[in-house]
Amino acid sequence: VCEPLRIASHVGPYDVSFETGRPFAGVADAPGVHWIVDARVATLYRQELQPVLTGSRVLLIEATEQAKSLERCPAYVEHLLASGLRRDHVIVAIGGGVVQDIACFLAAVVLRGVRWEFSPTTLLAQADSCIGSKSSINVGAYKNIVGTFTPPAQVIVNPAVLRTLDDVEIRSGIGEMLKVHAIDSPTSFDRIAADCERLTTDDDVLLHYIRASLRMKQRLIELDEFDRGDRRVMNYGHSFGHAIESATAFAVPHGIAVTVGMDLANHVAAGLGISTVAQFERMHRALMTNAAGFETVPVSVDALLGALAKDKKNAGAATTLVLPDADGRIHLRVVANDMQLRNLCAGYFEKVRTG
Ligand SMILES: NC(=O)c1ccc[n+]([C@@H]2O[C@H](COP(=O)([O-])OP(=O)(O)OC[C@H]3O[C@@H](n4cnc5c(N)ncnc54)[C@H](O)[C@@H]3O)[C@@H](O)[C@H]2O)c1
Ligand SMILES: [Zn+2]
Repeated sequence: VCEPLRIASHVGPYDVSFETGRPFAGVADAPGVHWIVDARVATLYRQELQPVLTGSRVLLIEATEQAKSLERCPAYVEHLLASGLRRDHVIVAIGGGVVQDIACFLAAVVLRGVRWEFSPTTLLAQADSCIGSKSSINVGAYKNIVGTFTPPAQVIVNPAVLRTLDDVEIRSGIGEMLKVHAIDSPTSFDRIAADCERLTTDDDVLLHYIRASLRMKQRLIELDEFDRGDRRVMNYGHSFGHAIESATAFAVPHGIAVTVGMDLANHVAAGLGISTVAQFERMHRALMTNAAGFETVPVSVDALLGALAKDKKNAGAATTLVLPDADGRIHLRVVANDMQLRNLCAGYFEKVRTG
């Protein structure tokens, strides 16, 4: 039904396969396999994962930002070594983006590199982060500041595992799906926006858009795996999104912050005359529906602009933002980090979001 995707990378191609039906059916432990499993998933799927969980080579991780910090890594390394990890072994990750980042980073550096495979269990990980090679680890207050480009050897996507995911986590994943569709083309965005409700009610529709999102991301990462050029449009909604996450102490989940970040980017682009109010309006309703419940989270404009200025992509008085043009196409733009930008951001939070 659903053809695998073959993704090219600097260490060779890898496949993303799609499964339906009971999650983790047929999972089996074997010598030389080291499991890194999201603790919540381990509890929810205790029975299915029993062969893995009762084995001796399993590391359970609580999916928090502290868990994916460099400070925690020595304990993970020692755990893997105590379980007998060797260079010809494999690390299999089962979980969302947090477990992915930890497993990918460990697979890159422990013994100078071992094979790793991934079964993503969040929508964000299935539709977005599972391809693209990146591992991202936090150091102190710096988020995603240390990492590597280490693609998995294999990814297995089964949307049935998403049934136990919270609604907010589903919408976080939808935020990234809306983003990559917007980057693909205005028509692609309008198509997924029209089907948004069915994403949460119809598994076939969801699987269709997960695969479509991965194909759209695939095009960009194959052009620019190391994030120096074309791939950087994937940061649409992210400069503002990261700023919203940090200005609210991560009260807003990543993909929802990205959703608001896109709306804010569209507002700013219209205000700067780069885009139009009509383009802002075209996307506004779908974005706000996806961000529902988080419109009232207070975001201080000072904290927002402070975080923008600290963004690793920015230098001095200018800020690189990803903004739509008058046709709704998404591009990188260098804009002045000045009073006009500040007023547009402040105006957004005062009027547009509430009105
Ligand atoms: N490396 C990359 O390319 C990349 C890209 C995007 C995001 N990320 C990182 O990913 C992280 C966010 O990942 P995420 O959004 O996947 O969430 P997550 O890994 O933080 O998981 C979110 C919550 O869902 C739970 N969970 C996971 N699967 C579940 C399931 N099937 N049923 C019920 N609960 C489940 C987790 O225990 C956790 O409580 C961030 O740290 C972000 O920086 C990395
Ligand atoms: Zn993101």
